[in-house]
Amino acid sequence: RRVVVLISGSGSNLQALIDAQQTEEGLGGEICAVISDQPDAYGLERAKQAGISTLCISPKNFSSREDYDQQLIREIDQFQPDLILLAGFMRILSSAFVLRYFGRLLNIHPSLLPKYKGLHTHRRALEAGDNEHGVSIHFVTEELDGGPLIVQAKVPIDLEDDESSLARKVQVQEHLLYPLVTRWFLQGRLQLKGNQPEFDGHPL
Ligand code: GRF
Repeated sequence: RRVVVLISGSGSNLQALIDAQQTEEGLGGEICAVISDQPDAYGLERAKQAGISTLCISPKNFSSREDYDQQLIREIDQFQPDLILLAGFMRILSSAFVLRYFGRLLNIHPSLLPKYKGLHTHRRALEAGDNEHGVSIHFVTEELDGGPLIVQAKVPIDLEDDESSLARKVQVQEHLLYPLVTRWFLQGRLQLKGNQPEFDGHPL
């Protein structure tokens, strides 16, 4: 089974996936390509270090989101992936893209969805005075950060937390959860039936 990972930045989640792939248990499949929209994304270096094909598609060369996404689809389809993972890919996707990969496109988002869709989630949780925060993994639909939830992990917000300490706590959970969910999907344990995620045949 084959996985394509889309990134824009540091790629620490990508690294967690690579590390999981290199354990004895493995990831249940192989990361066959990493695609970035940013040429200087550090995640591209991580992929190269691991011997994974990399590609950058810069939005500068496209006049519309639809044109960009069509090119992205062409490149992804060359790898015939079973699963496409958004791992800090900082672009809104067109409906054509989302529909093409419906049911095999996952995203990780650093909040307890449906709270704090979009950017600056750690800051917003702190400003709201929340006492917990976390990470969500969901199937991607046309609604930004709005698709069916698969799992969440919570972290406590402590009095002394600031944006970066909270981000670090959440990232620890991200790095545990994304490889786990990826493995479930690749092993055929997790699937989307209509709009309902199922695990081992049971609705989540
Ligand atoms: C993560 O916080 C992820 O939840 C969000 O973007 C960030 C990517 O971080 N979607 P990294 O590039 O994996 O380090």
